[in-house]
This record gives sequence, structure tokens and C-alpha cells, in this order.
Amino acid sequence: MYDHDQVKMTDMHYGKDRPPAENPLKIEDLTFRDGHQSLFATRGRTEDMIPVAEMMDEVGFWAMEVWGGATFDTMHRFLNEDPWQRIRTLKKYIKKTPFSMLLRGQNLVGYRNYADDVAAVFVERAAANGIDIFRTFDALNDYRNFETVVPVIKSSGKHFQGCICYSITEARLGGNVFNLEYYKKKALELQTMGADSICIKDMASLLAPYDAYRLVKELKKLVSVPIHLHSHFTSGMAPMTLLKAAEAGVDIVDTCMAPYAYRTSHTAIEPLVMTLLGTNRDTGFDIKHLAAIDEILEREILPKYRHLLDDTKVSVIDIGVLLHQTPGGMLSNLVNQLREMDALDKIEQVYAELPRVRKELGQVPLVTPTSQIVGIQAVNNVLFDDESERYKMITSQVKDLCYGLYGKTPVPIYPQLQKKALKDYPRGEVPITCRPAEVLEPELEKARDAVKELTSDIDDVLIYALYPVTGKRFLNWKYGKEKPPEDVKPRTLEDVRAEQELIEKAKAGKLIEKKEKPVPDKGPGLRMFNVFVDGEYFEVGVQEAGGIQQTPYTPDRSTASSSGEKPSVTPSRAVEDAGEKPDGALSPSGDGSAVLAPMPGMVVRYEKQQGERVQQGDTVVILEAMKMENAIKAPVNGTIKSINFRSGDTVSKNDVLCVIG
Ligand code: CO
Repeated sequence: MYDHDQVKMTDMHYGKDRPPAENPLKIEDLTFRDGHQSLFATRGRTEDMIPVAEMMDEVGFWAMEVWGGATFDTMHRFLNEDPWQRIRTLKKYIKKTPFSMLLRGQNLVGYRNYADDVAAVFVERAAANGIDIFRTFDALNDYRNFETVVPVIKSSGKHFQGCICYSITEARLGGNVFNLEYYKKKALELQTMGADSICIKDMASLLAPYDAYRLVKELKKLVSVPIHLHSHFTSGMAPMTLLKAAEAGVDIVDTCMAPYAYRTSHTAIEPLVMTLLGTNRDTGFDIKHLAAIDEILEREILPKYRHLLDDTKVSVIDIGVLLHQTPGGMLSNLVNQLREMDALDKIEQVYAELPRVRKELGQVPLVTPTSQIVGIQAVNNVLFDDESERYKMITSQVKDLCYGLYGKTPVPIYPQLQKKALKDYPRGEVPITCRPAEVLEPELEKARDAVKELTSDIDDVLIYALYPVTGKRFLNWKYGKEKPPEDVKPRTLEDVRAEQELIEKAKAGKLIEKKEKPVPDKGPGLRMFNVFVDGEYFEVGVQEAGGIQQTPYTPDRSTASSSGEKPSVTPSRAVEDAGEKPDGALSPSGDGSAVLAPMPGMVVRYEKQQGERVQQGDTVVILEAMKMENAIKAPVNGTIKSINFRSGDTVSKNDVLCVIG
């Protein structure tokens, strides 16, 4: 196929001035979206993209993915950045290269299907703000979920890229569900819908090189539009997969700049450029120019994000993904979730439960949001089920999936599970078979109304429509109604340097660990003092060394004997008290049942108010953990005595959500 004798690697030919290839492989760069989403929990800030933006524009990428996926969520939730502003800002620096976004079909950039009115306006606004290519996917490959967004993409004059989520149930391509025929059928459906290109979206890094070759060859014969390949590195196969796909004639592939590549992210562009140099698929990219961009990323940008890298393992590949089929972003989320719940030792059980839950839920492909739905349900099953009962805590999203609210699953859901999930389901106990959005009430006017005190800007309204709780909080920050917390502020290189110095000191043995001494019991001779240091207030207890036995009880010395329960040194106790939960929350006297958070998460809302009667099993709180909503039930009959959090509050495991008395 290639005449390797013609590959003359003179210095000149490293640059952009070498003769063009006959069929250059086109490249989409994912650094600004999937790159940091996969490696750094989507925490990349716009200000950290600007230093290389103009240089990136010079590379010659077919497109740059800069938006969509989880960016919209993390920007307004964790970074205090307006997601819409990012597109407009980057457009000022990147004028030639088209912008691509990842659109989750009717889920847009959220985790559920939104109503048609919101979906249509969202796409219209994304186009108006500067998105050129809409990479559109549906987690179930149910293209009825494209019916609202595609006409808007087309009427905005933009590129509709239809995705087929790549999934397998066997070790390789084949079997009864996800076989070659399945993918051919899906590609034809997309072409019929007017796709300008078709993307094979291998989010879980399952596409083996020879399967890619076969798949691309077949699809190239079948459809006339360009074929694009998106294959995560997680399992380690992707560079080989991309190469075999290139040999099979794939038109476009996805890569990242080296510092944002590999692990759960994507193949790096630099080795691919060298691999194809001088062949008929030569990218034509200047390797030195790429290296210059990498240098800036390495030195000035990445130090701020290094701490977010999952450094629990040395290996950059995860062969486990070939067994449990969990996509990259999901893996780190599951590990974090289990760690926060002190249950990291259960990760193997979760891996074993995942395929079981997936099968029972209709062999759904694992991609946002189905990966989260299956992942969290598997976590819930491992943590809360016992031998007598499975699916003890079913998330709202699993219920929605069972109802048909996400669309049609590749194979039917297990009937017993579906029945259990839909018991008392508010929309009804009989699942739907129509296009999911047909049962959704319009949402846009309600959203406009809910934020009208703050803003009438349609982009703001959409932030609220997609994320009512965190979206409202962000709009309050944006319009100065609330002060953004410290933790949404960016880390600076100075912060990083200061930390690095501490680490170096520790490595050199210059940080001395404090020896822990046992705390003696407090005796009746304890005397309390208020101590003020630099404006800080301490309550200090003093007693003679030797403890209880040696100190005779003398009432006149013991001015604070009644506070013997308090710790002898309590820094800023007064300040802490002010921020504590309402009195009686912990009901130490035992006059109520505390409803505990079974997992760390965010309070979405209380379904019951203070003073309201509840029956055992009634939902009292909706708690969001890893984007999934969990209904927390009343453990007993009674009355809500106290409510300890507000909508939007973050809670830790075992926090008392409310007390029932
Ligand atoms: Co991806």
C-alpha cells in the first residue's frame, strides 16, 4: 500500500512544506473538551486555553472540539464560568478552524431528555454563539432522540455529525446485539436523516484494531458521507485502532495534544504525525509546531491541573476496561464516589455488578448518561442490597429508563426489574413506546419565569433550564446576588509553586511530623481560659500534669468544671458554632430518628417540609450523587422535626438530612 522508500525524512519534510499526501488523514483535536474531561475532570478553564489558542489554529486541524459534553455542567458548577462565553472568547483567537461540540441528542449537555422547546432553542443558541459542527449522539442509539435537534442544526446552516455509540457484548465485534449488521443499519439511518458525516464513537475504548478495519471498510462501501473515528485510549488499543482505520480509509480521526493524551483520554497527535509522514495519509502537520504548543502546555498550564490526575496507579492503560466496559470519565467518578464512602475495597464487586445491571437494563451502550445510570445503580446495589432483596435503592434515572424516557433499549429490560422500578412511578406504571420527548411538557417559559428577577437573556435562561439548582446558583454569582465560594477560584502557578516547595521539603526530611501524644483525661481540677491570639479566639483548659488521680478536687479552683465535656483546646469554637446545623439536629436525647445521607452528594430538594407527617417509606429528600438522583425514604412514621440543609447544599455521607420525631 505504501512505498516506504519514498519517505524522505529530511529536516524540511518535518515541517508543513512537504508535498501534500494524496488522501491526507484529517484530524479533529479534542484537547479543549474531551482531553481535559477525560484526564482532569473537565476542570480546564478558558484562561488556560488562550495561551495556545492561536497556535492551535495554525496546525491545520479539520476541527477543534471545544464545547459540550460535561463542560457546560462543570463550568457553571465548579469554575464560575459562563459556558456560553467560552465559545465566544475562543472564537476571537481561533478564526480558521471550525468548532465542534458534543451534543447528547435530546439530553443536550445534561443528563436527561429535555423538552422539545428547550432542545430547539439550545441548538439555535449554540450555533449563534459559534459552534460549527454538532457531534450528536444518543446513549441508546435511538435516533428518534435526534428528531428535534437535527432540523435546527440544518436550518442554522451547520454540520450535523451523527454518532453511532460503539458497544459490544462479546470480547470482540459480533454476537446477537452489537454486530456488523447493527452498525450498518445505524449508519444508513443516520445518512437518511441527513448526516453530513458519521462518527463511530468508541467512548469505552473497546474497538479493537482489526474490528475497526472491518467496520470502516464496510461503512465506506455503504455510505457516501465521511467516516470519523473517536476512540478512547483507556484499554491501550486506540493508536493501533486509528492506524488500522486509516488503512481502511477512515476520513477523520480524533486525537489530543500529548500532555492531554493517553490514560482515559485519546491518542496523541505527535506520534501519529510521524507514523503517517510521507505516506498517502500524511496529515501534513508540522511536528515542530506541535512540539512548541506542547512546551507551553507542559510548562505553563498543566502544573495547575496535575493534582487532578488519577495517580492511584502507575500503569497508563486499564485492561479492566475490556472486561467491565466502563468509559474513561466514569471510571474515575466511580473510584471517587467509593472513596468518599469509604468503600473503595468494594470496587471489584462493583465491576462484577456492572455487566449484570447492564444486561438487566436492556444491554444499553455505556456512555453518558447511561454509563452513570448503570454505574451508580451498580454502586447502590453493592452498597445497599442484601441476600433477600436486589435493587433496594433504585435511582430516579433507572426508573425513567424503565419507563422509556430515554428511548428504546437495544434489547428489552428484564420485566421483573421494570415492574419493581415503575411501582408508584409518578408518570404511570406502564412504560411508553413513543419518542420520549413527546411526553414532556414544554419547559422554556417556566424557566424564563423562574429567573426573571435576575435576567431575561436567553443564554442565561438556558443555563437555568438545564441545571435548575446549580444554574440558579451560578446566575446569582454572575449577577452579584451571592458571593462565589473560594473553591471556584482558579489555582495559580504561585499556589502550585508553594505546594511544590512543601513537597520538596517533606522529601528532604525537613518537615517534621508531629508526634501524637495520648490526651490525658480531664479531671475536676480543670480550669478554662479564654485566649485571644492575633484576633483568633481559643478556649483553653488548664490542669496540673498527672491527670485526675493526682489532682485533688477543690471546688473553688474548678471554675469551669461543668464544661468538662468540652475538648480542652477548641480553636475558634465560637465561630464554628455559628456555622453549625440547627439545634436538635442530632437529637442526642434520642427523641427522633435521624435521616442520614447514605452517600455524599448534593441536596436537590426536600419532598416534605418541617411539621409534615410522613409514613415509613415516603420520599423525604432527593439527593444527587454523581448526577443521579436518589430518593431518600423515611425510615419510620412520624413528623418532620427539623430540616438541616437547603437545596443546592453539599452533604457528606452520614450527614443528618432531617429528623423525624
Ligand atoms: Co469521548
